[in-house]
Amino acid sequence: MFSRAFPLILSAGVAHASLRARNVSDVCSQIANQISGASGVFYPSSAHYEQDIGHWLTSSLQQSTCSVEPGTAEDVSTILQVLASTRTPFGVKGGGHSTNIGFSSTLGVQISMNRFNEITLSGDKTTVDVGAGLIWDDIYAVLNGSGVNVVGGRIPGVGVAGFTLGGVGYTWKTSQYGLTLDNVAAYKLVLPNGTITTVTAADEDLWFGLRVRSLIFGIVTTFTLVTHPQTDVWGGPVTVSPDQFDALNAAIANFSANNTDTKAAILPTYSYSGAQPGLSVTLFYDAPTPPNGLFDDLLAVPAVASHVATRSFADLVTSGGFTLPTTRGALNSVSVLHYTPLIIQLITNLTAEWGQRLGELDDLSFVSVSIEPFNSALFSHGAPSAYPPDRSRGIFPTNVFFSWQNATSDDVFVSAMKNLTGHVRRTAVAEGQDVEHAAVYDNYALGDTPLEDIYGHNVARLHWIRTAIDPDDVMGLAGGFKF
Ligand SMILES: Cc1cc2nc3c(=O)[nH]c(=O)nc-3n(C[C@H](O)[C@H](O)[C@H](O)COP(=O)(O)OP(=O)(O)OC[C@H]3O[C@@H](n4cnc5c(N)ncnc54)[C@H](O)[C@@H]3O)c2cc1C
Ligand SMILES: *[C@@H]1O[C@H](CO)[C@@H](O)[C@H](O)[C@H]1NC(C)=O
Ligand SMILES: *[C@@H]1O[C@H](CO)[C@@H](O)[C@H](O)[C@H]1NC(C)=O
Ligand SMILES: *[C@@H]1O[C@H](CO)[C@@H](O)[C@H](O)[C@H]1NC(C)=O
Ligand SMILES: *[C@@H]1O[C@H](CO)[C@@H](O)[C@H](O)[C@H]1NC(C)=O
Ligand SMILES: *[C@@H]1O[C@H](CO)[C@@H](O)[C@H](O)[C@H]1NC(C)=O
Ligand SMILES: *[C@@H]1O[C@H](CO)[C@@H](O)[C@H](O)[C@H]1NC(C)=O
Ligand SMILES: *[C@@H]1O[C@H](CO)[C@@H](O)[C@H](O)[C@H]1NC(C)=O
Ligand SMILES: *[C@@H]1O[C@H](CO)[C@@H](O)[C@H](O)[C@H]1NC(C)=O
Repeated sequence: MFSRAFPLILSAGVAHASLRARNVSDVCSQIANQISGASGVFYPSSAHYEQDIGHWLTSSLQQSTCSVEPGTAEDVSTILQVLASTRTPFGVKGGGHSTNIGFSSTLGVQISMNRFNEITLSGDKTTVDVGAGLIWDDIYAVLNGSGVNVVGGRIPGVGVAGFTLGGVGYTWKTSQYGLTLDNVAAYKLVLPNGTITTVTAADEDLWFGLRVRSLIFGIVTTFTLVTHPQTDVWGGPVTVSPDQFDALNAAIANFSANNTDTKAAILPTYSYSGAQPGLSVTLFYDAPTPPNGLFDDLLAVPAVASHVATRSFADLVTSGGFTLPTTRGALNSVSVLHYTPLIIQLITNLTAEWGQRLGELDDLSFVSVSIEPFNSALFSHGAPSAYPPDRSRGIFPTNVFFSWQNATSDDVFVSAMKNLTGHVRRTAVAEGQDVEHAAVYDNYALGDTPLEDIYGHNVARLHWIRTAIDPDDVMGLAGGFKF
């Protein structure tokens, strides 16, 4: 249990500093000695360790001293107490899709949640308990054919934990049901002091805080997600050649401006790689057939490839996968109120211009911008949360993803991403959109984004909750946005 010496150590600055220098290997042994047989500690070059530290991008991977796979909430509690009493840096990994180094990686102790992999549908099918080590694909596959589904990720491989906690979750069903965090009924949470608790809407402060940034309030082991009815769905990706970009852009702009059917969604992606500009749009309708006319404009544009079909939700998501070469990369974001024809044309141009320029620097450079036109009432589905700080109007979290091969190119690519988002923001403002200070989506934000840009006026409340829940700053030993 909780070391009795702990509060004393933390109040003594000198002891604190000497403990920080403690040998992490010793901490790994200490953890190994205290956890149950349900959990394991692993070291470099073992298969478990490599899997535990693995990330979607090599640029967000770090060689930790050891890795730990907790198998029970009690062991998570034990591990947190050892890390706290020794002031050892750690990282917590769900699906490993964070694109910022240090957010779910560490040079200290890597915690991988992969043993929390249970999926339990309630008897009446209204909720489903899912372990924090799962990826959305796992859940869709298990719920496939059950007649119900959750509000989760759009692309294969993404983790439930980071998606729901490190942000909010923008999904195919967000115009219809809100964000993923608006569809969580409860969290099983290990608090920074090791106490295991279940957080529901009744616990106002933790509920508010968890509904955006868990890692500052502890480690979640299980999410209880609300379900919704699920039939087969219609959709899939359509890709066009550059001579059709203007035609498809006109249809995308029309959908963005005029669609009011909340079961419909599109995800257009502008890209540039291998000296080629690309444009593909994934269409989605939450029923076996879309209403007449809704997607006619978009489907009328001659495509070079089209995989639109009626199929299960699980199969639609699986079909949208893309694999990257082992590579470096980053996400950045700019929020807008509307994807107007001008903004769409600007994004088309900037993707090609930066793609061309950066392609000269790095043979494997990949430049992409996805625009996410949801229904403007998307935030009306839930209660206040740290992000978005203002639920009274809809903002759309344009996703900017660049990837490259050489670490020496990091700065050039990241500053290009900032240049691109700045350009889009200025143009939207010049067009009359009030987005100068529109919140940036946490899960797409670069690691150096100021907290105020993400959480706005909620930063003060988050500071206050953090101080109350984690007075000893245990979670400060893990990476991520710092409060
Ligand atoms: C290919 C791709 C597609 C994406 N698609 C979407 C999308 O459609 N919609 C959307 O909203 N976002 C999307 N994202 C962003 C995505 O939500 C974030 O990358 C998210 O952080 C991924 O979660 P993860 O569990 O895989 O990440 P991880 O890197 O494992 O974790 C991310 C953060 O959550 C913390 N964390 C992980 N597990 C726990 C836990 N059990 N308790 C407390 N904290 C924990 C980590 O410490 C870290 O800070 C996408 C990202 C990628 C790369
Ligand atoms: C840390 O401890 C391990 C095992 O106890 C030992 O092999 C290693 O040399 C130590 N490293 C340092 C930097 O003290
Ligand atoms: C989902 O169910 C359908 C119909 O039974 C089946 O054809 C498909 O393979 C399943 N897909 C997944 C990803 O489990
Ligand atoms: C917009 O889309 C609707 C529905 O597909 C269509 O009827 C209309 O002609 C389109 N308008 C423009 C300007 O393209
Ligand atoms: C939206 O619909 C209106 C009415 O049909 C049309 O005039 C307008 O051009 C459409 N918007 C876009 C961006 O196509
Ligand atoms: C995009 O590029 C085209 C072709 O160079 C140009 O005519 C147009 O003005 C540009 N639009 C924007 C918004 O940058
Ligand atoms: C990485 O940089 C080196 C040296 O500048 C260069 O030779 C190599 O081609 C680059 N790799 C890629 C994939 O661009
Ligand atoms: C963005 O890039 C353009 C073109 O290189 C340059 O003129 C401009 O100064 C850059 N802006 C920023 C903010 O970096
Ligand atoms: C742990 O923290 C919680 C939340 O601040 C608090 O309610 C609880 O009393 C603490 N438990 C111990 C053992 O300190």
